[in-house]
Amino acid sequence: MRNIIPLSRWYYKETFEDKYVHEFENMDGFSEVVVPHANKEIPFSNFDEKMYQFESCYKRIVEVSEEMMDKRLFLDFEGVMTYAEVFWDGNLVGSHKGGYTPFSVEITDVAKPGKHELILKVDSRERDDIPPFGFVIDYLCYGGVYREVYLRAVEKTYIKNIKVEQVGTYQGLKINTFVDTKEKGNYNLTGALWKDDVKISEETIPISVHDGVENHEIVLSGLENIKEWGIDNPELYEVKVELHKGEILDEVATRHGFRTVNFKEDGFYLNGERVKLRGLNRHQSYPYVGYAMPRRAQEKDADILKYELGINIVRTSHYPQSKHFINRCDEIGLLVFEEIPGWQHIGNEEWQDVAVENVREMIERDWNHPSIIIWGVRINESQDHHEFYSRTNALARELDSTRQTGGVRFIEDSEMLEDVYTFNDFQAGFEDRRHRDQQAVTGLKKDVPFLITEFAGHMHPTKRYDPEQWRVEHANRHAYAHDEIGRDHRIAGAIGWCAFDYNTHYQFGSGDRICYHGVMDMFRLPKFASYVYSSQKDPQDEIILEPLTNWTQGDREEGGVMPLMIYTNCDSVKMYIGEKEIGEYKPSFKKFPGLKRPPIVIDEMISTWGDFWNDACFIGYIDGKEVKRRKFLKNPVPSKLHLKADDLELLANGYDESYDVTRVCVELTDEIDNITMYGFERIKFKVEGPGEIIGPDETVMLGSAIAFWVKTIGQTGVIKVQVEIPTMVSNTIDINVI
Ligand code: GAL
Repeated sequence: MRNIIPLSRWYYKETFEDKYVHEFENMDGFSEVVVPHANKEIPFSNFDEKMYQFESCYKRIVEVSEEMMDKRLFLDFEGVMTYAEVFWDGNLVGSHKGGYTPFSVEITDVAKPGKHELILKVDSRERDDIPPFGFVIDYLCYGGVYREVYLRAVEKTYIKNIKVEQVGTYQGLKINTFVDTKEKGNYNLTGALWKDDVKISEETIPISVHDGVENHEIVLSGLENIKEWGIDNPELYEVKVELHKGEILDEVATRHGFRTVNFKEDGFYLNGERVKLRGLNRHQSYPYVGYAMPRRAQEKDADILKYELGINIVRTSHYPQSKHFINRCDEIGLLVFEEIPGWQHIGNEEWQDVAVENVREMIERDWNHPSIIIWGVRINESQDHHEFYSRTNALARELDSTRQTGGVRFIEDSEMLEDVYTFNDFQAGFEDRRHRDQQAVTGLKKDVPFLITEFAGHMHPTKRYDPEQWRVEHANRHAYAHDEIGRDHRIAGAIGWCAFDYNTHYQFGSGDRICYHGVMDMFRLPKFASYVYSSQKDPQDEIILEPLTNWTQGDREEGGVMPLMIYTNCDSVKMYIGEKEIGEYKPSFKKFPGLKRPPIVIDEMISTWGDFWNDACFIGYIDGKEVKRRKFLKNPVPSKLHLKADDLELLANGYDESYDVTRVCVELTDEIDNITMYGFERIKFKVEGPGEIIGPDETVMLGSAIAFWVKTIGQTGVIKVQVEIPTMVSNTIDINVI
């Protein structure tokens, strides 16, 4: 049977010299680290991105037991940015180009019982021979061993991978089982379908293996009463495959969701029903540590997108993202557009070979995820390249015949080698409705499956603490885009740029190494634009009532708060100033007919100057009943420092003998819990017990709010978290570490 051992603890040094390979004992300059690890902690903003672009060394001892001697042994790396060389007892045993896809190095022939020296040379420079590098890029790629590492021991004949495909509409399953061997032999393969703890179907086939990797198909047929996987009902099954000969030699499992997906000329169909795609792009980066965040944080991002923002699709711009993120998308019913690494630039043939290999690595890692509905097989926004993109498309189709391909472009009349024309339309999202006509974009004389993969973004960068009017415009642009695309059935949907602010290279962003393009900031704290998305949710899930204002007289041009947009899923909203009822307002279906839940637009001039200025109250109604109230004070005074952790229980060693994290959010609010505006107070984060703060423990609030992540350190107990600003101390949160 297989045995998988996490290799999470390493010694690390921020430089590499060839002699390190032969001097394992020399610990000079090495410190203990745990993966996921960033090769360099960076400031929140304003830094030189060269600071993490260097070669570094990771090393550790790996123990090989007697029992492992009759096995095959692999080192599995989930993600090392960007180029890795792997040394085993001083000898090079493998290397890999590309930081977003996994790779394995076999060490069977060089492993003996006892201790071995494992040393990695990690090159995190932006090498021209590896995608996405070679030109400029609007995001940072960071460095280090930022995903998990494992030692995997399997039998001499073992299951390398499985690919599960549906037969008909759920009558059967074909389990492609890739068995790897070095010696001829006869075995049995048993494939089974499970739902929770119940075995639904099982089939055993005899197989003969020869040499290398061979695909053996197990077919389960006659399936009945299958529950479909969907956005609202993400039913997951488990497929298990056993390799046996008398005893069980290997067992692998994967999840399966029964569903059909299809992009057509008139939209996207999930399980035969047309679904308008409404989504956002996600970069996988976080403040201070870049990509190096463990499972819980990855899962939380998926939850934020699904539950807080209520979107139905995420694009993993511009690379394959953490397996934990995608697993979570499967679990919660969030559709995924996954794509290969790259940004506008196509390199030479060697570079293209790496990109084609990225297609393989991405698809072979992720083909069993029901959430993934399309493969992006072009370099984001690159020019046409017939030969290169014929290769990426052909490979994607050969590996996975069940999903269509897309390839994100911004040029018109671009060659359509893919199944879906996926286009970044930065003309979408204006009040005067200018999203481009698809035939004008494609240059084709017929309609094709068409999806807008980006809009907004750099057209209107917005900070969470920008002037009110600016933030309102940011929100409206997302609403205009989804409205116009919502009305056009020849477009499958729109994925906005983007979910979260992100660190970037000096050529992009606001000059401080941040692109303020998110509907949330880097801490995943909401901007006004996030309410465009959350207000589309079913009120059964959450009632949203968000008047886009700080309720102050002097933050907009010429003062006042008009026109006032209220993003809400209520039927109507009554507005009061002081005791005076101003009116009852309904969502503007006239202005936003393409939105399921349009915002309310109050654009009459309500005088709000001088003495008339008073408290305001907005009351939301559904079916004639009051369901929510939002009040604003005419004279809000900072009164409370709120602290909230995403999780109150963490695992001392995380999920892979590493560490666990949770986010803690801080808000400076007035007496009635409205966030105050534009507060930039000095703030100290305090943690006692078995936890540490990621990043600095002292900073400033950004517009009266901020967040930080707390990580565990391998010990159980209670982490006490508190924050302090010059005028106030927060409550204390207890996080239980088990
Ligand atoms: C696009 C690009 C994204 C991001 C965005 C900003 O052109 O694909 O990565 O840079 O612009 O709006």
